[in-house]
Amino acid sequence: MAAAASLLSLLPRPAPSQPCRFSPVHSPSSRRKPSISISISIPHSAAPSSSNPTPVTTEEPPKPQIELEFLGPKAGADGAYPVDKASAVSGEKLLRNIMLDNKIELYAAYGKVMNCGGGGSCGTCIVEIVDGKDLLNERTNTEQRYLKKKPESWRLACQTIVGNKENSGKVVVQRMPQWKT
Ligand code: FES
Repeated sequence: MAAAASLLSLLPRPAPSQPCRFSPVHSPSSRRKPSISISISIPHSAAPSSSNPTPVTTEEPPKPQIELEFLGPKAGADGAYPVDKASAVSGEKLLRNIMLDNKIELYAAYGKVMNCGGGGSCGTCIVEIVDGKDLLNERTNTEQRYLKKKPESWRLACQTIVGNKENSGKVVVQRMPQWKT
């Protein structure tokens, strides 16, 4: 046994740095171009979650408001006028419509049955603007005709636009000023 080992030690051994003389065997699949795959991992906090969707802001800023106070038409026994209140988005409604929408009586007895329905042809929807006239439109030609000899503060409610879409504030209206006591 010792003799066999000594014989093996006499056989030549390849140098460690000698290149391999065998060429590699290529199978059909090994001739394909190498493919590269990249995987990207998204941190959990950055990935969209159906249980916590990103909120979409669609809200518009609030529109300017006009606050209205309606006095009268007649003072009570204590001398104070009854007051009704309403509010409207600036520049979106006529004073007549605001009053009707809020069930605030606009017409005197005759106007109740004979008004033109807001067409500007009966002159029965008269109000007095006690305060806040700068928040309203200017008198229209229809008003100039019907209110020519009336106080400057009188308006036809069906011709009066409350606000100009940008302003806000308070308007005080005397109902049926022709009845004012
Ligand atoms: S409702 Fe007729 S003029 Fe205003």
